[in-house]
Amino acid sequence: MSSAPREAAAHERQLAECLRRARHDPTLAVLEGFHALKHALRFGAEPLAAYAADPVALDELAAAVAPDVRERVVALVEPIAPELLAELAPRAPQPAVVSIAPRPRFDLAQALRDPRPTPIVLLEDPRNMGNLGACIRVAAGADAAAVLSTGTSDPWHPDALRGAAGLHYALPVAHVDGPPRSDRPLVALDPGGDPLDAAALAPRAMLAFGSERHGLSEALLDAADARVRIPMRAGVSSLNLATSVAVVLFAARLRDT
Ligand SMILES: C[S@@+](CC[C@H](N)C(=O)[O-])C[C@H]1O[C@@H](n2cnc3c(N)ncnc32)[C@H](O)[C@@H]1O
Repeated sequence: MSSAPREAAAHERQLAECLRRARHDPTLAVLEGFHALKHALRFGAEPLAAYAADPVALDELAAAVAPDVRERVVALVEPIAPELLAELAPRAPQPAVVSIAPRPRFDLAQALRDPRPTPIVLLEDPRNMGNLGACIRVAAGADAAAVLSTGTSDPWHPDALRGAAGLHYALPVAHVDGPPRSDRPLVALDPGGDPLDAAALAPRAMLAFGSERHGLSEALLDAADARVRIPMRAGVSSLNLATSVAVVLFAARLRDT
């Protein structure tokens, strides 16, 4: 092999290793797709690198849907062989781009102190990363004060970032060991609770939602100041996790705006 192809192969190996490490680095976020990169840039991320198989197609998309970040996308993105990108980020939406950015600093006390009436979302042991991402996306849209999650999953998992379209950068998002102590009323969202009344929903509530399979734990239900249900048609057992987060956050938002 002559030196140019050898150098290109070494560069590709280095890049693959760098991305593999970033996926397991708790200080970094791996953003797959243009919309994740766009939102990350809009909400203050400072990506370290971004790789695209077709930078021209990416630029056209940026010009069409996000001219505000176009220049930064162009300056950031390096071209990469399409087969290599497909191997490194097989689920990146087209036109494929994968970016690496530092996660923002998270301060739990500061998030809990947020004086606005807007709630915090507490997800107890969510298991489906796409669903977790969808919760973060809707919480960003509703301008929630934070999304906290307990259990085994990292809310900054690349699949959750893809599901949230990178909106983790729009509000504080972090894993916590359990429901944090605070002056916020703890409201458990549970199909067995009292019917949701947006007017009676406490300002600055910590809204707790259970896992997809098991719902909320007895410990959390016992600790809650109130249990609330979203009234459903008879025969329907429950709503999807992200859907129920959307209903409650927007009931509160529509009341307050
Ligand atoms: C898919 S559901 C869990 C279903 C679980 N089998 C159960 O019995 O709770 C996930 C979470 O969404 C919320 N949720 C779903 N439907 C709801 C409803 N109608 N009222 C209040 N919360 C609901 C709850 O927090 C629930 O723990």
